[in-house]
Amino acid sequence: MCGIVAYLGKQKAEPILIKGLKRLEYRGYDSTGIALIENDELQVHKKKGKVAELETELSAQSFKSSIGIGHTRWATHGEPNDVNAHPHYSADQSLAVIHNGIIENYRSLKTELQKKGYSFKSDTDTEVFATFLQDVKTSNDLNLEDAVRLALSRVVGAYAIVILSKEEPDTLIAARKGSPMVIGVGKGEYFVASDATPIVEYTNNVIYLNDEEVAIIKSDSLEITDLKDIPLTPKIHEIDIALDEIEKGGYEHFMLKEIFEQPKSIADCMRGRLKMPEQTLILGGIQKYTDALIQAEKITFIACGTSWHAGLVAEYIFEEFCRIPVEVQYASEYRYRNPIVKPGEIVIAISQSGETADTLAAIEIAQRRGAIVLGIVNAVGSSISRVTDEGAYLHAGPEIGVASTKAFTAQLTVLSMMAIKAALLKGTITDSTFRELLNELNDIPAKVAKALTLNDKIKEISATFKDAHNFLYLGRGYNFPVALEGALKLKEISYIHAEGYPAAEMKHGPIALIDENMPVVFIATRDSSYDKIISNIQEVKSRKGKVIAVVTEGDVLIPGMADYTIEVPATHEALMPLVSVVPLQLLSYHIAVMRGANVDQPRNLAKSVTVE
Ligand code: F6R
Repeated sequence: MCGIVAYLGKQKAEPILIKGLKRLEYRGYDSTGIALIENDELQVHKKKGKVAELETELSAQSFKSSIGIGHTRWATHGEPNDVNAHPHYSADQSLAVIHNGIIENYRSLKTELQKKGYSFKSDTDTEVFATFLQDVKTSNDLNLEDAVRLALSRVVGAYAIVILSKEEPDTLIAARKGSPMVIGVGKGEYFVASDATPIVEYTNNVIYLNDEEVAIIKSDSLEITDLKDIPLTPKIHEIDIALDEIEKGGYEHFMLKEIFEQPKSIADCMRGRLKMPEQTLILGGIQKYTDALIQAEKITFIACGTSWHAGLVAEYIFEEFCRIPVEVQYASEYRYRNPIVKPGEIVIAISQSGETADTLAAIEIAQRRGAIVLGIVNAVGSSISRVTDEGAYLHAGPEIGVASTKAFTAQLTVLSMMAIKAALLKGTITDSTFRELLNELNDIPAKVAKALTLNDKIKEISATFKDAHNFLYLGRGYNFPVALEGALKLKEISYIHAEGYPAAEMKHGPIALIDENMPVVFIATRDSSYDKIISNIQEVKSRKGKVIAVVTEGDVLIPGMADYTIEVPATHEALMPLVSVVPLQLLSYHIAVMRGANVDQPRNLAKSVTVE
């Protein structure tokens, strides 16, 4: 949520900020702005809308400033408009602030400041902080960095914040608590950003700022302290993100690129872990807790959205192969439901971004109550990867499209590998089942590639249903979470109302919705519930519903019943979600494009939900 970028060096800051904001736009895109120091003046330029609109507006001007801050917003306080856009000036316009997060005590700070005679232009918590900082600085006669530390010690809530001051025009101050922030260390230049995407084309050396740390960045020095001014030694990490991973590479949208990347991202996820000649499976990241995992009396998955759907698939897999009871919890509920956690219990947090606020809070509660928390995370160096006890990265590469696709299949890949390995060690599957599953896993990238060849057919089906008002997605067993995921993908990018259900639940209510206008997507691949789902298809057809069925290649029964069939390659039923989800991703993508929706930046959404 909200993208932050800042630059201090010898180059002109404005083009770096604009380019950085474009890279970060997937985090929030309702308004945007930058602040620069021009001719000793602190200038703020900001407006509602996309970064490209601000870029056009600024194109007539030339800027010399080699320091600056920029922000692309996902509104939390106040509607998206020019005034609420960041950066925000302090009351005396000596400071400009960009902020990601929520300052929870901003109302009391605002009242305090209003009593002192300050007034505010925007509805934002950030403007309150900017003026609060100014007031702390002037009333206590402090320099900027001391004022920032004192002001932040009075702030309740989450923040990633960067401050630019007219009085100290060669200094950037950055700080974080609960919202991500990365500092790029170049040669004689520094970058600050919400994630590494705006930084990678300039430097691979980054520092991940930790909670309650403050960075004082000058052209020739970088100092990091805690809020009490105790100096800290920053650790420089080398990141490994290629530029083409964060560019569209000829595709019309990031989402399409990422859907088509899946054969590679799944293979990357298995690389070095699944060793076919040796027939072994090694998950280095969770070796310390392997025994705890296989002896677990219960495993609890915590996640949100698509990652939660991956947890639901994992529930089936772990129960089937490892015979361990599994609970899958929405992180947002878990954090407030007084969960019962036995010391040493295994909790597995799943998150693409590694920054989801609800998941982070749920992890904290689980750890506080004695759980071992493992993280299944895509974004390297992200908060979840750092706070969890151990974990496995997805290695799917950066996911930029707001709707998660390749991260979902990579999550399923890691979770399947974990379950299969744990089952072997636990003795709940035989060696031959283990080898069979390994072979099936190894074939998944090729099968996903085959499913992708259905793109044209799916595009045609999409054209038929693009004007539908509702969709129902039905699946059973391993394909039930796939139904939920298909429905989520469709609603988030096309804005068509869609619901996913276990197919057998249809008769307990949703069947009332079926008529000739209701498209029903069945994920009906050949598995242990195949005969049952055929009955469900018949129930829909006899009420004139339109059936789109994802079936296994060579199915002869369902094509005779369904209005449209999409044939995907066969695999073990536990791994089928990796393949059967692909046509659903494509269906949502094409429907959304045909409806004129912005698939990479759907309305009201943002990647990385760093607020509650
Ligand atoms: C859906 C989607 C969201 C995320 C959810 C969790 O396409 O992207 O539902 O899955 O916000 O995000 P992460 O996985 O980053 O914790």
